[in-house]
Amino acid sequence: MAVLEKTSRHFGTEEIINLENKYGAHNYHPLPVVLSRGEGVYVWDVEGKKYYDFLSAYSAVNQGHCHPKIVNAMISQAQTLTLTSRAFFNDQLGPYEKYITETFGFDKVLPMNTGAEAVETALKLCRKWAYEVKGVEEHEAQIIVCEGNFHGRTTTIISFSNDENARKNFGPYTAGFIKIAYDDLDALEEALSSTKNIAGFLVEPIQGEAGVYVPSEGYLAKAKALCEKHNALFIADEVQTGIARTGKLLAVHHENVQPDILILGKAISGGVYPVSAVLANDSIMNVIKPGQHGSTFGGNPVAAAVAVAALEVVKDEKLAENAENLGKIFREKIGQFVEKSNIATLVRGKGLLNAIVINDTEESDTAWNICMRLRDNGLLAKPTHGNIIRFAPPLVMNEEQLLDCVSIIINTLKEFEK
Ligand SMILES: Cc1ncc(COP(=O)(O)O)c(C=O)c1O
Repeated sequence: MAVLEKTSRHFGTEEIINLENKYGAHNYHPLPVVLSRGEGVYVWDVEGKKYYDFLSAYSAVNQGHCHPKIVNAMISQAQTLTLTSRAFFNDQLGPYEKYITETFGFDKVLPMNTGAEAVETALKLCRKWAYEVKGVEEHEAQIIVCEGNFHGRTTTIISFSNDENARKNFGPYTAGFIKIAYDDLDALEEALSSTKNIAGFLVEPIQGEAGVYVPSEGYLAKAKALCEKHNALFIADEVQTGIARTGKLLAVHHENVQPDILILGKAISGGVYPVSAVLANDSIMNVIKPGQHGSTFGGNPVAAAVAVAALEVVKDEKLAENAENLGKIFREKIGQFVEKSNIATLVRGKGLLNAIVINDTEESDTAWNICMRLRDNGLLAKPTHGNIIRFAPPLVMNEEQLLDCVSIIINTLKEFEK
């Protein structure tokens, strides 16, 4: 078969897209660009064209593409021992567990692979704590979640999504969730007071997928205090906001909040390997006993070695500080443009997790068309919801590169001024 004899290096853009369209499930709608190489803040397509990556694989590649320290950790561990399962101990997991718990200030970690799995883990942990520590009657536990949330794609998680496209025809849904408005402390207080069966409150410190919605200052700290008052667990999903993206190691650190349960994924490996983690103190984590949760690949030696290297890069290269500084410049420069623009109405975000709101309806294809032009102009970004474009470059970017990108973005937006 001719197709099988060819390696991807021999295919052009159109051929590869056609292969995916024909042989892959259509569960994504990618921008038509086929990438074959990445280094730092750059990616290259199969035709050799170079781009700034302004998505960072949805904030997984915070340390930049193919960071040599992380890649070397992976190669070296892959040549030594890859997978034992948790039927036996491996020599990488314990040191990783010590490192990550000390880094984030928790007693224990439960290692998983993907973000959605870590969210599922946190929900199970929260429910079990509610029954065994708080004393909620069996099957009665309720977890409060927010409208506009995005926590992944499993059956339980989409059960409490309000994205109809993500939910429709995947029922019956998992029960036990109460949905309230995001950034609304009165709604949270009301839900917490509504029943004695509240186990916890699951929240994104910034709603990334929804369009980079930053809550009011003080929201997270006050929400945490309300949870404490009602003996409910405050669960922070930092899969997208975590690991330096918003200018602090965690987004909750902007308000000096320590969650009861912390969910991490994506950049915990710098995007080279699927690694996720759930962190909590003993009083919570110790409710989980052998056989009650796990994953064949969770905590494998490659994941452990990669995660340590990836977290070290974040510290050594001061990525949080860089994200904080460059984020300010980004919002200032784009903000000045937005003031005079009639195509962009708003720029918002924290650190290097930002979004621009495009002056058109959610159903319009203007934001998509702008992303296509950005691609032509050498910068890759993607709309989140209809008329919102998220901008999240690798955190290893320098100021000169950022200013170059700001010019590309502004010049591209100018092409669309009405
Ligand atoms: C806040 C948040 N939680 C969970 C997830 C799910 O992560 P994964 O795609 O690795 O399952 C995402 C993915 O974008 C996310 O942004």
